[in-house]
Amino acid sequence: MKNIITAWITTNYTCNCKCDWCYARKMLGKHQNIDLQYAMKIVEYLKKTGVETITLIGGEPTIYPNLIDLISFIRSLGIKVRIATNGKRFKEKEYTKKILDIGIDGINISIKGLNEEEYFYYTHQYGFNDMIEGHNNLCKFGFDPSVSYVITDSNVEKFESFVHLLLTEKMDNLIIQFEKPSLSLTSNSKTMNIKEMGTFTAYIYSTLEETGINYTIEASFPLCLIPEHTLNEMLIKKKISTCCHVQKGNGIVFDVTGEIIPCNHFLGFPIENEPLNLQNENAIEELMATDEYKKFKNVVHRYPTEKCTTCNLWRICGGGCFTRWFYLNPKDYI
Ligand SMILES: C[S@@+](CC[C@H](N)C(=O)[O-])C[C@H]1O[C@@H](n2cnc3c(N)ncnc32)[C@H](O)[C@@H]1O
Repeated sequence: MKNIITAWITTNYTCNCKCDWCYARKMLGKHQNIDLQYAMKIVEYLKKTGVETITLIGGEPTIYPNLIDLISFIRSLGIKVRIATNGKRFKEKEYTKKILDIGIDGINISIKGLNEEEYFYYTHQYGFNDMIEGHNNLCKFGFDPSVSYVITDSNVEKFESFVHLLLTEKMDNLIIQFEKPSLSLTSNSKTMNIKEMGTFTAYIYSTLEETGINYTIEASFPLCLIPEHTLNEMLIKKKISTCCHVQKGNGIVFDVTGEIIPCNHFLGFPIENEPLNLQNENAIEELMATDEYKKFKNVVHRYPTEKCTTCNLWRICGGGCFTRWFYLNPKDYI
C-alpha cells in the first residue's frame, strides 16, 4: 500500500450551499452523515496503509456534527488532517477556536462569489459575508487558510474583480481550478471550452504574477493548450499542478457510505457497490486488482489520445482530467 499517501473521507451529504457546478449537488438531497465509529474505523485502516494526509470533504464538513471528534481522532493517530469547506461556519468564533485548539493541518475555503448577491446567485444560499468573516476569524486566531476558486463559464468574465477581492481581503494562498464534469450532473453545458482554459490560464498567470499572491493553477486540461512561452515560465515557477491522484495512483476517496470512488467527481458512483471490508488489510489492493477497477484504469490511461503519449510533456501533463474526455472528443482539441 506504499503508493497511497493521501485519502479523502466524505463526511456528509449535507451542505449549506447548493452550488450550480457542484459535483455533489445531486447527493445533497440525501442529507446523510458518515457514522463516526465507522469513520474512525476507516481512519484506523488508513493508518495501517501508511496514509499521510486525510482531507475531510462533503457536502460541508463544518456542519457534520462529529467533525471535532473525527479531527481529534485522526490527529491522535499522527495523520495530517485538512478540510475543504465553504468557510461560512468559521464566522462563529467559539467554533473556530475549538477546531484550531484541537489542531488542524489545513483549511481550504472555497470562494463561490464576489459579493453577497453573486454568492446567492451561484449557491442559492447567502454566505459571502459569513465566508469573509470566517476567513478573517481564522487569520485573527493565527491560522493561515488557503482559498480556492472554480472558474466556470459564468464567472470567467469577473476574474479581475476576483483578484481585487483577494487583495482587499489579504487572501494570499490560492488554488485555481476550472470546472470539471461530474458523473452525477447530467448536463455539462456550462463547463468552459477547454481551449479557452489554456488561453485563460495565460491571462491568469500574467494577472497574478503582478500581485504577489501565492497561487497554483490546477491544469485539468492538456498543457499544450497553454501558449508555449507562458507554459515554460509557469512550469519553471511551479505555478501549475497536473495529474490527479487517479492518474498517479496515490490517493483514495471514501464516499459517505464507505464505498470507494475513484475521485470526488464520482460521488454516488462507487467502484463496487459495497463498503470496503475494513477487516481485510489488503482490501484496497484487492479492490484495485478487480476486473472492474482494471477496466476503469484502462479507460483512464487511454485518454486523451495516442498522440499525447508521444509528446515530451506527457509525463507531467497526463492529458488533463480524464472525466472531460467522457464528454469531449480529444481529437477536436489536441
Ligand atoms: C464539493 S465541495 C465540498 C467542500 C465544501 N462544501 C466547499 O464548498 O468547499 C469541494 C470543492 O470542490 C469544488 N467543486 C465542486 N464541484 C466542482 C466541479 N464540478 N468542478 C471543479 N470543482 C468543483 C468546490 O468549489 C469546492 O472547492
